Amino acid sequence: MKIITFGASSSKNSINKTFAHYTAQQFQNATIDFLDLNDYSLPLFSVDLENEMGIPQNAKDFYLKILNSDFLVISMAEHNGSYSAAFKNLLDWISRYEGKVFANKKMFLLATSPGGRGGESVLEAALARFPRHAAEIVEHFSLPNFESNFDLEKGILDETLRKSYLSKIELVKNSMNQ
Ligand SMILES: Cc1cc2nc3c(=O)[nH]c(=O)nc-3n(C[C@H](O)[C@H](O)[C@H](O)COP(=O)(O)O)c2cc1C
Repeated sequence: MKIITFGASSSKNSINKTFAHYTAQQFQNATIDFLDLNDYSLPLFSVDLENEMGIPQNAKDFYLKILNSDFLVISMAEHNGSYSAAFKNLLDWISRYEGKVFANKKMFLLATSPGGRGGESVLEAALARFPRHAAEIVEHFSLPNFESNFDLEKGILDETLRKSYLSKIELVKNSMNQ
């Protein structure tokens, strides 16, 4: 089982990267590839640039990482109710290379934010859109108030959220036959 995990953000200290990477480590017997969008920098997509230069290698490389994986753990950063610009740009470039961006892989889709809605808006957007790019979303989970609800050692601190998160981890494990 090979898991690809990343936060859909280009912040160096992305809370979504932290949460995605932490979550991927809840699955045993897996090889985990911890990706960072900053390692796949891309120019701002435009059809004119695409005509001039074609698809950048970094977009192809990111897609190949997905293609060669068995499972995706992604946590969505919310900017103004939607995807971060860095993630949307990556999605746009890859979608021009291969419309099935998520290559029919199973996915645990997450979102977190410092606020009380936990990135619910971007999560809704991704839940509606990703299946159109061949994502098989097995479960999703949103964690509100990241700073007060999450600890790297202890995991999710709020008891109700913790129970919900752990039950989803179990469902995902079942879907992986772990
Ligand atoms: C331009 C911008 C817009 C934001 N808009 C939202 C928003 O709509 N909803 C929200 O919950 N948080 C919003 N935030 C706060 C982000 O959730 C917060 O910066 C979070 O840390 C982003 O995730 P990341 O750390 O993984 O990059 C925004 C932050 C920025 C910089």
